[in-house]
Amino acid sequence: MHPAELVLPLFVREGVSEPLPLGSMPGILQHSIDSLRRTAAEAAEAGVGGVMLFGVPEVRDATGSASCRTDGILNVATEAVAAEVGDAIVVQTDLCLDEFTDHGHCGVLDASGAVDNDATLVIYREMALAQARAGSQVLGLSGMMDGQVAAVRDALDGEGFHDTVIMAYSAKYASAFYGPFREAVDSQLTGDRRSYQLDPGNRREGLREAITDIEEGADIVMVKPAMSYLDVLADVAAASDVPVWAYQVSGEYSMIEAAAAHGWIDRNRAIEESLVGIKRAGADAILTYWATEVAGWLK
Ligand code: PBG
Repeated sequence: MHPAELVLPLFVREGVSEPLPLGSMPGILQHSIDSLRRTAAEAAEAGVGGVMLFGVPEVRDATGSASCRTDGILNVATEAVAAEVGDAIVVQTDLCLDEFTDHGHCGVLDASGAVDNDATLVIYREMALAQARAGSQVLGLSGMMDGQVAAVRDALDGEGFHDTVIMAYSAKYASAFYGPFREAVDSQLTGDRRSYQLDPGNRREGLREAITDIEEGADIVMVKPAMSYLDVLADVAAASDVPVWAYQVSGEYSMIEAAAAHGWIDRNRAIEESLVGIKRAGADAILTYWATEVAGWLK
């Protein structure tokens, strides 16, 4: 394992001047723009390969309109981080509406309250352009709408962003392990995402989604969560001709931290073993909240 194979997810909150701690993810913060910049610079210094930015807006609406605006928190933060460390680390952004909608779903809703796949794609295209213009080098398409990779690739190419990379959360399962993340982004969601995320019992569909995304033009495909889906990760790694990433999600982080805080497991060994397992299953890179710390150990 090499530090450059690790990607650090970071949360940035609109309207705060000091970072705020997260109760469900000890050690992880909702950043101000300033602390975000500093934290990204520390990651770059440690040799971490990338930062994945998530925005927490002050105001939400039904269509998540702040996601597409130049002055939306994620786009402002991307510009700030790209200016600070854009040459030293790969600046990446979450391309999804859930942080920006007042109902918390990853897409817009139709009259019946169901997620409207194709109306969402229209917004994703605009969001992709806003993120690329702000300086994001890798767009993390995490919304699980059908056709999202093809739609975003078409929008980017149409505006000359041929080199902006699409990292598709291809095999994203409807998981309980995203629990702590919901606090991290102040999620407004009631209910679940089972109509668009994958069924945990379905192994083949994870592979099929990855292959579809590669055909649509994904530059990187991802499996998420990591630990409970290592079989899917191995399947995708064996079949993919593009890099395969895995996301060690919030619940995976918090479980190890909580057990370690009780003295029930050896924290550092457990962290290392969890990452080695993900790498062994076939991940070329791993999103992990421990990226900077582990990069320090590897150095
Ligand atoms: C959606 C998104 C989620 C995560 C990353 N992107 C939440 C979800 O799908 O419910 C979860 C990450 C984590 O749990 O660490 N924008």
